[in-house]
Amino acid sequence: MRVQVAIIGAGPSGLLLGQLLHLAGIDAVILENRSREYVLGRIRAGVLEQGAVDLLDRAGVGSRLHAEGLVHHGIELCFESVRHRIDLSELTGGKCVTVYGQTEVTKDLMDARAAAGAKTVYEADAVSVHDFDGDRPKVRYRADGGAHEIECDFIAGCDGFHGVCRKSVPAKAITTYERVYPFGWLGLLADTPPCGDELIYVNHERGFALCSMRSRSRSRYYLQCALDEQIAEWSDQRFWDELRRRLDPAAAEALVTGPSLEKSIAPLRSFVAEPMRFGRLLLAGDAAHIVPPTGAKGLNLAASDVHYLSTALIDHYATGGFAELDAYSAKCLRRIWQAERFSWWMTKLLHCFSDEGAFGRKIQVAELVHLINSRAASTAFAENYVGLPY
Ligand code: FAD
Ligand code: DHB
Repeated sequence: MRVQVAIIGAGPSGLLLGQLLHLAGIDAVILENRSREYVLGRIRAGVLEQGAVDLLDRAGVGSRLHAEGLVHHGIELCFESVRHRIDLSELTGGKCVTVYGQTEVTKDLMDARAAAGAKTVYEADAVSVHDFDGDRPKVRYRADGGAHEIECDFIAGCDGFHGVCRKSVPAKAITTYERVYPFGWLGLLADTPPCGDELIYVNHERGFALCSMRSRSRSRYYLQCALDEQIAEWSDQRFWDELRRRLDPAAAEALVTGPSLEKSIAPLRSFVAEPMRFGRLLLAGDAAHIVPPTGAKGLNLAASDVHYLSTALIDHYATGGFAELDAYSAKCLRRIWQAERFSWWMTKLLHCFSDEGAFGRKIQVAELVHLINSRAASTAFAENYVGLPY
């Protein structure tokens, strides 16, 4: 088989890239090593910046998002058991975020791809990438009991943190930067109405908590937990009891509990690989970088990478030139490091770090007091939370 672009991974990065290229008349195939159902079953991010919403609109998949997504103009920060609202829209000249789950974004993109008749190979085994330092890269994989090879002009590595693309780059060509945090997030999804109208980020001496949602009848909650925590030891009752202890009295009172639909533990990590282009292999999304989820930036960074990558590929096929592809890595990385800094800062501000002790907690509270009382500090927070421009 021969295509212009071979995309590895059918997460948000790969599917969105596929859709934007399809609309530009560029022929692409997506290879995904999991099943469609498995990809749709993963519960992940929930908050979209305006830039991601605009990009999904441009990709022609915004209609359900606008009908069902919840537009939020503010968030709440809770510390010392008191909630304080940050008015995102007032501080950013009217900007907002949209609560719409990554699962729904993925489903909308899969449906658009099916409607366009574009090819996706699910359950592709042993995917490998070759010859991307020359003009004729190749991708090999196994499916339906046979071995297959695809010749292409470019390979888009959209295969997430554990994917094969970044690992196929010679070690001397890539530099990585990493911080692993000494805790994880235990997440719970339930068909219960959220305990507030907006998201609540909680700094508490027992650990961070986050009250989020997927709709007016579906809640998503997170608790900071130890890295060696076992899901089996967290009954729903234990989760709800612990969450209630970390909330302010009014939110604890408003909390509606119910059976969990899903519970999972995610580790927290900051990671960046530089550069993001190796000849005709281009990385995008989690394949190139990871942020701790605290700032809700992971999915949004995947969207901005795909914006730059689709623009560069469309320019190449229109002009035959490489200027935009040459600029791809630097353009992405400028924005990525801003999101890395914000996510790292928010993680440090809101979580319990056992090695920081009582002094560390006092400093966190001092910073939170400044954040809610200083218009300059609140504005800097709001600008980053709603998303920097791209
Ligand atoms: P992915 O979504 O990881 O997609 C990569 C795809 O490539 C996957 O479908 C994978 O199956 C496929 N793949 C992997 N290896 C291969 C291979 N060898 N061959 C073929 N296909 C392959 N962000 C937030 O903002 N908020 C959150 O609450 C949040 N929670 C998260 C929880 C977890 C457990 C994880 C892992 C991430 C979370 N994120 C969150 C981050 C956010 O979900 C990611 O930033 C986003 O999914 C990135 O999209 P992506 O398409 O680049 O990567
Ligand atoms: C969600 C996850 C986040 O990391 C965040 O900062 C806000 C919301 C969520 O899954 O809803």
